[in-house]
Order: sequence, then structure tokens, then C-alpha cells
Amino acid sequence: MPWQEWVGDKTVVEPSIYAADLSRLGDQVEALLDAGARIFHVDIGDGRFIEEITIGPIVVRSLAPLVHGRGGVLDCHLMVAEPGRQLAKVKEAGGDSVTFHVEAVEDVQVTVASARALGLGVGLALNPSTPVEAALAAADAVDLVLCMSVHPGLSGQAFMPEALPRVAQLRRLLPQEVLVQVDGGISLENARAVREAGARLLVAGSAVFWQEDPVASYQALVAEAEAGVP
Ligand code: DX5
Ligand code: ZN
Repeated sequence: MPWQEWVGDKTVVEPSIYAADLSRLGDQVEALLDAGARIFHVDIGDGRFIEEITIGPIVVRSLAPLVHGRGGVLDCHLMVAEPGRQLAKVKEAGGDSVTFHVEAVEDVQVTVASARALGLGVGLALNPSTPVEAALAAADAVDLVLCMSVHPGLSGQAFMPEALPRVAQLRRLLPQEVLVQVDGGISLENARAVREAGARLLVAGSAVFWQEDPVASYQALVAEAEAGVP
């Protein structure tokens, strides 16, 4: 499972490039690579599963040489209807892992198998209103479960505190090797609590890129996410 290698025993902060200044995307990603970031979150939204049309495989393709050249990975969050249709395109563009929404597919197992056949890492995403049990049937076959802490669509929304007990519940119910990821409203105020609830992957958009100094903000989040870990 590639994710185990990428993460090791750390708590990872994943900059979400949806929130970046896209006119300076390469420079911003390079600065974060210099600061130690290795897993970058890419939000692919289609205007159907979510209202917003976000970024897609052509951006993955542009970033892949830079990120892969530094030993990094592109973690693609598919906020799209019919995600199965996008897997090969994301892979071909240089995506390393895909996380699709259980609400967007008829058969979770089939889509997981298609992603695996392409050699992708695989995650299952849950909207805030979807019972955590929806992730369990295919849990043995995936690397991570993404617990949304906002309604998917936009960066900059407030963290929903209801996500914390859901993270803890997922951590209890999932096999130990399946990572819990949290996406939406992660900030210095909640990063530690999110990790303590059981998450190892913290996606952060506005808390990194909408700050005056994205690198310093990323570093502060990493410190906070790991605070109290011996
Ligand atoms: C929004 C996306 C998120 C977004 C996070 O639905 O899935 O990844 O970029 O941004 P923040 O951290 O600002 O909530
Ligand atoms: Zn996301």
C-alpha cells in the first residue's frame, strides 16, 4: 500500500492547491516542497456532484513533474459524478491517488477495483451527512477514508465540529492500516483535536494559502498537528 510509505508514522498536513493563487501555483508548491510538504491535495470538481467547477487533470499534469521530481505525491479528491470515468485520465496526468465519494457511485467496490487496476492509491470520501458505515463495506480494499468536515465545494468554510466524533468512530471501526483523512476548515484552532480524534491526514486550503505567509502557516499547522506527540 503506497500510502503507508508516504505517511510513515507522521501526521501529515496536505496543502490543498484549490486554495492557492493559481497564477503562482508552481512557485507556491515549490516553496511548500522546500518546507517539507510532500503530499498535495488536488480538488477535482465537476459542477455536478458539487456546484463548483474546480481544477482537473490538466493542472495535475502541469504539477506532476515538479512534485514527483521532489519525491512528492498528488492526492486527488474527486468531487465528481461518475468518478469511474475520470480515473484513467487522472492517472495518465500523473495523479498518484484518488479519493472518490461513496455518494457518487452505485457500487463502491467496482470503482475501488478500477482505481487499483490502474495502480492508484484509493480513498473513500464521506459527505458530512453520510453515515460512517457507508465506508465500511469496502474498507479492507482502500488506503484511506476521508471524513468531510464541510460540505464539499469551496475552500474557506468553517469546520463542522460534528466531524470530530465521526473521525473517532471511523478510527474505531476501520482496520488499523486504513488512514483517516479530514478535509474542510482545518486550522491552528482544531488541527490537534482532529489528530487526537484519530486523523493522520489533515487537508488544509485556506489555512495555508489564504494567509500572508503560506510556508510559515503550513509549518505552524504541522507543529500543531504533531503537538503533544512524544
Ligand atoms: C472543499 C475541498 C477542500 C478545500 C479545503 O470542498 O474539498 O479540499 O480546498 O479548503 P479549506 O481548508 O479552506 O476548508
Ligand atoms: Zn478536498
